[in-house]
Amino acid sequence: MRTARFTLDPAFTVGTVDPRLFGSFVEHLGRCVYTGVFEPGHPTADADGIRGDVLDLVRELGVTAVRYPGGNFVSGYRWEDSVGPVEERPRRLDLAWRSTETNRFGLSEYISFLRKIGPQAEPMMALNLGTRGVAEALQLQEYANHPGGTALSDLRAEHGDKDPFGIRLWCLGNEMDGPWQTGHKTAAEYGRTAAETARAMRQLDPGVQLVACGSSGRSMPTFAEWEATVLQETYDLVDYISLHAYYEPLDGDVDSFLASAVDMESFIEDVVATCDHVGARLKSRKKINLSFDEWNVWYMSRTEEQVSALDWPEAPRLLEDSYSVLDAVVFGSLLIALLRHADRVAVACLAQLVNVIAPIMTEPGGPAWRQTTFFPFAQASKYGRGEVLDVRVDSPTYATEKYGEADLLHATAVRGEDGTVTVFAVNRSRTEPLPLDVALNGLGLTSVTGHSVLADADPDARNTLAEPERVVPHAGEGTTLDGGRLTAVLEPLSWNVIRLA
Ligand code: AHR
Repeated sequence: MRTARFTLDPAFTVGTVDPRLFGSFVEHLGRCVYTGVFEPGHPTADADGIRGDVLDLVRELGVTAVRYPGGNFVSGYRWEDSVGPVEERPRRLDLAWRSTETNRFGLSEYISFLRKIGPQAEPMMALNLGTRGVAEALQLQEYANHPGGTALSDLRAEHGDKDPFGIRLWCLGNEMDGPWQTGHKTAAEYGRTAAETARAMRQLDPGVQLVACGSSGRSMPTFAEWEATVLQETYDLVDYISLHAYYEPLDGDVDSFLASAVDMESFIEDVVATCDHVGARLKSRKKINLSFDEWNVWYMSRTEEQVSALDWPEAPRLLEDSYSVLDAVVFGSLLIALLRHADRVAVACLAQLVNVIAPIMTEPGGPAWRQTTFFPFAQASKYGRGEVLDVRVDSPTYATEKYGEADLLHATAVRGEDGTVTVFAVNRSRTEPLPLDVALNGLGLTSVTGHSVLADADPDARNTLAEPERVVPHAGEGTTLDGGRLTAVLEPLSWNVIRLA
């Protein structure tokens, strides 16, 4: 196999990583909340019903911003149902997931969960712009953030939350371009609603950060036109536009699946170009950045049937995908794609956090465990902080049906404040090891302090309730740094984290 090469030089950087790139997402969907995050009576649960074993794993995962409460769920959400005495909260139909929502876990419980995770966890609250509008958004903002002395802020205090929640980051609806969305709108309709909501919210607090809905996927027929129309209305009023993308191997095409990040990177670049085009049209100096607030591997083609068969159960088992080593390698490559665009992607949310297409799984009354995708995320969040270096690979390629010739090597590198550098790299070859040679210019690096590998002789290996630690990262062998050159051999189908000091 030909050697893959690139050069690292501190003079060539992409941008600084916003910690919120390692966000996640908790939706009232399936068992993400109930028996996931929240399970009163579970042996590890605290007095508020938060599972201690899950909390420990969430901390280890290193999530920052946590988007809530949906997703499709939010487009029928009535925030006032989710606050106040639990026994008085109404049960409601959740049209998005054909389930019954008990509202036992609500806004206050979400904020308290975040506070338990630690100071790195930041709220990211989605607003219902499907069945509701400006008035309800303002009411929620006042209830959540106003210090006191008004009906809604005093109501929060009466409900036991004297301190305001301090929610800074808000999503103006969810996937409003999707015909499946309750209250689905055209781009022009949504653009107006988003602009009016944003304007009013800024009247209450000019410091809010707002995310306008972009397309729910790059393959939507309205993609790009949707972004342009929405931004034409909202450019001066919002900070970010959202992107959502999920990948799965379709028709057994594993080679294209392995190159999913090629699509993700083009998607990001298309949205950046659209934002900048609208900015140019408006003669604005402002840049709109990106909130990739739903991304993951998701075996979505299996989901539709599951949902339509439901008869309004509480917290059913839904979207509980089990992730293989192959999935984790693709997942790692998606993380690399996000880091490679850290100059414009400010926020990203792994969808979702627990049980629902998630890195953490739980059994009601039983244990919690890490899926294969847990490891790339935890490592990227831990070591992917700082300045992203510009990585241009010279790599052998392979043929894919969807994306033509794709590089076997997908890589990025992040330089921490202490001068250490971490290389994140994926070998997409299913059969061959990939020799890697990296020239290190002017970085003052002299040693390899670690090479962690996620790979397995069985690409379908996964962690399960019965075998929760079947897949864990292992140490790479023979990785050296000598005379300013890093050399390594990347195992077939592998995710690699190489740390240099
Ligand atoms: O994350 C699962 C679902 O995917 C979300 O509810 C929705 O926004 C998207 O279509």
